[in-house]
Amino acid sequence: MAYNKQDTDTVSKYSKSSCSTKDATGDENIKFIRHFDGQYSLIDQPTTRQHKAYYFLFIHTLICLSIEMSLRLGQEFPNYQVKTTVGDQKIHQWLGDQWGILFSHPADYTPVCTTELARAAKLAPEFAKRNTKLIGLSCDTVELHREWIEDIHAYADITDQCSKQFPFPIIDDSDRAIATKLGMIDPVETDNEGIPLTARSVFYIGPDKKVKALLLYPATSGRNFDEILRLLDSLQLSQKYPIATPVDWKPGDDVMVPTNVSDETIKEKLPNPVKVKQDLPSGKGYIRTTTLK
Ligand code: BEZ
Repeated sequence: MAYNKQDTDTVSKYSKSSCSTKDATGDENIKFIRHFDGQYSLIDQPTTRQHKAYYFLFIHTLICLSIEMSLRLGQEFPNYQVKTTVGDQKIHQWLGDQWGILFSHPADYTPVCTTELARAAKLAPEFAKRNTKLIGLSCDTVELHREWIEDIHAYADITDQCSKQFPFPIIDDSDRAIATKLGMIDPVETDNEGIPLTARSVFYIGPDKKVKALLLYPATSGRNFDEILRLLDSLQLSQKYPIATPVDWKPGDDVMVPTNVSDETIKEKLPNPVKVKQDLPSGKGYIRTTTLK
């Protein structure tokens, strides 16, 4: 690439055929070669400016890849071979015929992640009751995860010796390969070096290995594990019965019967009668509720 006079102002005073100086942006050690026609061009060598260009290209590629490869509801969760705190695993084989929840973290030894993992560890028996396996992911190594787990235990105040074994594995995603493939890279939130952080994703995986629900939070907002559990209850109930759960639903509350559920299906699959709300201005009987108790 040829540089014009403006770019090469600081070198024009040199009469040698090549020189090294500052460029217009102040970058050091840029080497120019002077051509016969008086134009200057950059000698191909890594400079700060080039490093910046490679860096932005790398980040751009990461973001494009993550946008392209984001998983959608109903797609099969990929059967990744992962390195975890309990050894190498293939996700599908590790899940067996159980439900799974994979949740990601930007990095080890970060305060919000520590609170989330401590809460998940305390709630582990609740997930187990629901035939659901938890698996964390953080963009650091297994070795660092193992050291961090000591802090998570202390923070969760899990002092019982039997509970010292961390209740679920944490994936080593130190190269961000999975975070990138699954579209977890957040282009907005960056670390101290300006590298985009991994978002807080939650993938609900059904026993058929299909994605049943997805949550995506930025690194700066910790997730609500009561909600993670509540959503699991809703998903499992709507797989079992032809129902949907309404706003702010909690286990035990009445559920809704969607309009596409026929009278025959209601008779066959629901244990209790269905109530229809009649006093709506439209007069349409689409708000139908029942109890599963
Ligand atoms: C945290 O887990 O505390 C955290 C991580 C990345 C950005 C902001 C907060």
